[in-house]
Amino acid sequence: MLRTPGSAYVVHLGGEDVPLTAHWGAPVDDETALALARVPLGTARGWESALDGHEEYPSDSGLRFATPSLALRFPDGQRTVRWRFVSASIDGDHLRLYFTELTRAVRLLLHYRVVSDVVERWAELRAGEPVEVLRADSAAWCPPRREDYRLSSVHGRWAAEWQLRREALTAGLVRLGSRRTTTSPTQNPWFALDDGTATETAGEVWSAALAWSGTWHIDVERQPAGRVVATAGAGSSLALAAGETHTTPVSAGLWTGDGFGAVSRMWHRYLREHVMPSGAELRPVLYNSWEATGFRLDETNQLALAERAAALGCELFVMDDGWFGARLSDDAGLGDWTPNPDRFPRGLAPLIARVNELGMRFGIWVEPEMVNPDSALYRAHPDWVYATPGYPRHEMRNQLVLNLGKPEVAAWLHGWMDALLAEHDIAFVKWDMNRPVTDPGPDPSWPAAHTLSLYAILDRLRRDHPTVRFESCASGGGRVDPGILARTDQVWPSDNTDAADRLHIQEGFGQVYPARTMTAWVTDAPNFLTGNRLPLRFRFHVAMAGVLGIGGDLTHWTLDEQTEAAALIAQYKRIRPIVQHGALHRLRSPATSTAPALAYVLADEVAVFQWLAGHRYGEPYVPPRLPFLPPSTRWQDAETGTLFTSAFLATHGLDATLFRNHDSAVTHLRRAP
Ligand code: DGJ
Repeated sequence: MLRTPGSAYVVHLGGEDVPLTAHWGAPVDDETALALARVPLGTARGWESALDGHEEYPSDSGLRFATPSLALRFPDGQRTVRWRFVSASIDGDHLRLYFTELTRAVRLLLHYRVVSDVVERWAELRAGEPVEVLRADSAAWCPPRREDYRLSSVHGRWAAEWQLRREALTAGLVRLGSRRTTTSPTQNPWFALDDGTATETAGEVWSAALAWSGTWHIDVERQPAGRVVATAGAGSSLALAAGETHTTPVSAGLWTGDGFGAVSRMWHRYLREHVMPSGAELRPVLYNSWEATGFRLDETNQLALAERAAALGCELFVMDDGWFGARLSDDAGLGDWTPNPDRFPRGLAPLIARVNELGMRFGIWVEPEMVNPDSALYRAHPDWVYATPGYPRHEMRNQLVLNLGKPEVAAWLHGWMDALLAEHDIAFVKWDMNRPVTDPGPDPSWPAAHTLSLYAILDRLRRDHPTVRFESCASGGGRVDPGILARTDQVWPSDNTDAADRLHIQEGFGQVYPARTMTAWVTDAPNFLTGNRLPLRFRFHVAMAGVLGIGGDLTHWTLDEQTEAAALIAQYKRIRPIVQHGALHRLRSPATSTAPALAYVLADEVAVFQWLAGHRYGEPYVPPRLPFLPPSTRWQDAETGTLFTSAFLATHGLDATLFRNHDSAVTHLRRAP
């Protein structure tokens, strides 16, 4: 039995040594755990297996029909595996179960580790003889039998990532996944299951995520007898030689009895405190040049933006795409990572020095895994890209992907990044990736090798440049997962910077990932994508719910806009610890309300965000209620001094008296004596 502060996870061995989930849910005592382990699996009708929906790590052989977590093939073609339990070991919070195969020299280790509210699981295969691993997932997750099930997951596409869906899981298989060699904007490796009755604040929810930034799948399957099992893994096959070991990425799971809000808070805490390298830090207010100068950047226009950004209170100036090689558009330049001599005739040093003089740190955009065919790098090394000899290759955004599985490519990439960071005072790297990987060619280790090589490079750069912070970006939110968050400090959730759309994007993102990771820029009106002209204050109030950034062309902002922006940035800095480190309470969802609201709570401080989005007819405003404050406490508005009791805030709510569509308010409450 593994115990988290608020849950229990019980594994036991059934007949034929098959590891089964006896319990995943509320805390139980030993007697109950034993009783749960003794509950018979149930009767399988014809064409069914009693094991399906109970197994911790089903294989694709034997009397079972659920989607397997594991599929092996030996050189003689045999695919049957049958595990014999050898032993278990417990080392602090880490449980290992050892199995050996009945006739083959293959061993399986199932790992379980309790980390805060989460059980981390992964599998290790040790080959004593050659074996092809067709599939090796990290874990199968089996919630207990309930009358019904509902699946929550996030879906999307470029500029529309993070759309939250909750759908009844009626029959058969739902596959969440990516075949793009990166996490992808289409789905995120996370899900939650409930029985259809959980709400934001109540009800049992089972949730799991996969820490992997490559091709992946989570297969959620409703069995004929009604149970559900979800098996999560990286989607690569591989060949193990005798003596080799394969270790899967981690899949983490959690249970709560307190609804979807609690699920998110548990994921946020786990990621911030146990996964991210710098989760305890506060992230600076950044400026990013992309929407302002696009590919047309040069030292003069970056300096002009930097002067304005510093005057507003920005703390980090990030120069985006366009500073290197012949990068005048997306046609050319990727791969040639030296400053464009026409745009930066003196190199980057003078710009960085001025940015530092202005009191800001300097950040830079890179897309290291890519190359344009129109580049010196490609002309020198056409064989460095993924391609199938004899077949046409496929460009996307006029670019090809470098084969990071080749040691010389990985060494080159690490070399220039290392030199860039060593030679310049760079505090922040926005690491972008703007196309999926295709055309693997004959490389047997694809696609996993790409992700592993990326991880190794990032880990090494972090180790050698410990003060540099990294942002993960893949055309927006295409590479966000617990695997990349173990080696990056924040992420760019979407290229969609329309604040009204962002409310939905941020709600989906926040199901799993904390505000501390969520870069959010205030950009210009009309928005480049949607054409919407939203008030500056509303745009700020949406972005202030994450890691605030500015992404507009500040040289066109009026004096009034600059004054308002400076005041809002100052306000953000006052509430920043609450937003970035606090516990999120979603009060009203943009999916169901035209007056969405949320609050962050950190110790004795609360930041409450209220917006009107899609509000019509000038309907009277209903204040959002704050039922989560400790009883019999008093709270003071840090700006107006108004005092409230917790009971007032829980029953009447916090009334920002919003009226017109796109009115908004951010209120900072402090606990009063
Ligand atoms: C895609 C990113 O999401 C944008 O923010 C920007 O960096 C562009 N790439 C630059 O090409």
